[in-house]
Amino acid sequence: MAAIREIIKLGDPLLRQRAAQVRRFGFRLEKLLDDMACTMYASNGCGLAAPQIGISKCIVVIDDGQGLIELINPTIRRAEGEISDVEYCLSVPELGGEVKRAESIRVEAQDRKGKICVYEAEGFLARIFQHEIDHLQGRLFVDIMTREVRDEKPEKLQNEAQEQVQDEAQNNE
Ligand code: CO
Repeated sequence: MAAIREIIKLGDPLLRQRAAQVRRFGFRLEKLLDDMACTMYASNGCGLAAPQIGISKCIVVIDDGQGLIELINPTIRRAEGEISDVEYCLSVPELGGEVKRAESIRVEAQDRKGKICVYEAEGFLARIFQHEIDHLQGRLFVDIMTREVRDEKPEKLQNEAQEQVQDEAQNNE
């Protein structure tokens, strides 16, 4: 059975290490991939790299809503165009950032059995590939963002709470 692993957060030195290539394929890798997918889905993420659960290996899972993609030892073989958009990361809570990425890419990786697969991606999916592959180099979106985007949710909740306090104060008058 797959398990939900703990996601480490910005500030943890494990996120900054360069991940090692996977050389052994087998049961342990498959269990790890299952746990990573489980952890990603439980966190409503669209991608997760092994360093984010404290394992410094070149392993990534992605699901942009069109199905699970597992990448072992991925490399970007081609990158074209440039597009800027807001990104979030499960290891960087409540903060987003605008990041310039290649618009379309070709990625070569191995699957869970070690077979070489080639992926062509563009737009949002290409962005996820690049974000996750960055994790394997110890790079986070906060290092390369051009603008910080604060999550507006906590502020909104705070305003609502404040309004409630004001309402109660008025009721007491
Ligand atoms: Co991330």
